[in-house]
Amino acid sequence: MAKIGDIDVGDFPLLLAPMEDVSDPPFRALCKEQGADVVFTEFISSEGLIRDAAKSVMKLDIYEKERPVGIQIFGANLESMLQSVEIVEASKPDIIDINFGCPVKKVVSKGAGAGILKDIDLMVSLTEAMVKHTNLPITVKTRLGWDHDSIKIVEVAERLQDVGCKAISIHGRTRAQMYKGSADWRPIAEVKNNPRMHIPVFGNGDVDTPERAVEMRDEYGLDGAMIGRASIGYPWFFREVKHFFKTGKHLAPPTMQERIEVARRHLKMAIDWKGEKLGVFETRRHYTNYFKGIPDFKPYRMKMVTCDDAVDVFDTFDEVEERFADFDWLSQSV
Ligand SMILES: Cc1cc2nc3c(=O)[nH]c(=O)nc-3n(C[C@H](O)[C@H](O)[C@H](O)COP(=O)(O)O)c2cc1C
Repeated sequence: MAKIGDIDVGDFPLLLAPMEDVSDPPFRALCKEQGADVVFTEFISSEGLIRDAAKSVMKLDIYEKERPVGIQIFGANLESMLQSVEIVEASKPDIIDINFGCPVKKVVSKGAGAGILKDIDLMVSLTEAMVKHTNLPITVKTRLGWDHDSIKIVEVAERLQDVGCKAISIHGRTRAQMYKGSADWRPIAEVKNNPRMHIPVFGNGDVDTPERAVEMRDEYGLDGAMIGRASIGYPWFFREVKHFFKTGKHLAPPTMQERIEVARRHLKMAIDWKGEKLGVFETRRHYTNYFKGIPDFKPYRMKMVTCDDAVDVFDTFDEVEERFADFDWLSQSV
């Protein structure tokens, strides 16, 4: 059983990765329904929070049904990070996660995200100060290192643990790699195999089939898998992995009726949460995967991703449901 602080997150939990403009409350709720054990918000700027920037503050919203949920924040300034911990606490998350992994230039150039991998002492002291500033469990998400020549993740993870970090999620790439190449889970296994480590070590990067999740569990011996891209537009990925763990067999993919029902609910929740304009806009990125594999689907997808009015998107869902009612994903899968 893995535990994050006092929170029991089960045996080899599946975690929904923090993803900007993706891991919002509606999507997190759907992933939770489909078996995600822990979900995280997208990263939220500590500077934005303390300026009370509306866009940052809205990202703090959480639904009761998604718990346990972690709010992820980023920043490099101690004072701002501590103040933002207080702001985040008011939203009553179960976990506060620190982003020490974002590779994007505008974040890194300020020493935040993966930028902090160039200053491990600061990474450790920031984490320590945050741990001391809250009763909520502090967790860290990071990468293997700044670049291939500076991978010190075993030592870094141990130091983070020693200052009170309650779990660490490690993306098996360096900052220099961005998203290129494939994730290397071997250094993550080294972290886990360090006999001094006792907090959960979660693996991240390229878990895109149930077999890969099994590999992470059985061959690399990690404590759980954090899943990002494989879930975009496909929240069923979590239940498929869980089914495979239990039975060693692949679960049949969701039917058209189920996909449409979830797509409708997703859009409705998004509109309820952030209004029609943003709700319609921000749900678009999921549709490609919701309906992936249907031949000649392009005209419908185009409608879904270009209609500005919710009613037109809902009508398109109706059309798709009628036109492709009998489409069978099982016969398409390899
Ligand atoms: C669209 C997108 C947005 C992301 N935003 C964040 C973020 O806000 N915070 C974070 O720690 N990682 C972020 N990531 C990285 C993911 O959490 C994850 O580490 C990465 O995608 C590798 O996992 P995967 O192969 O399962 O997708 C993002 C990734 C994607 C694709």
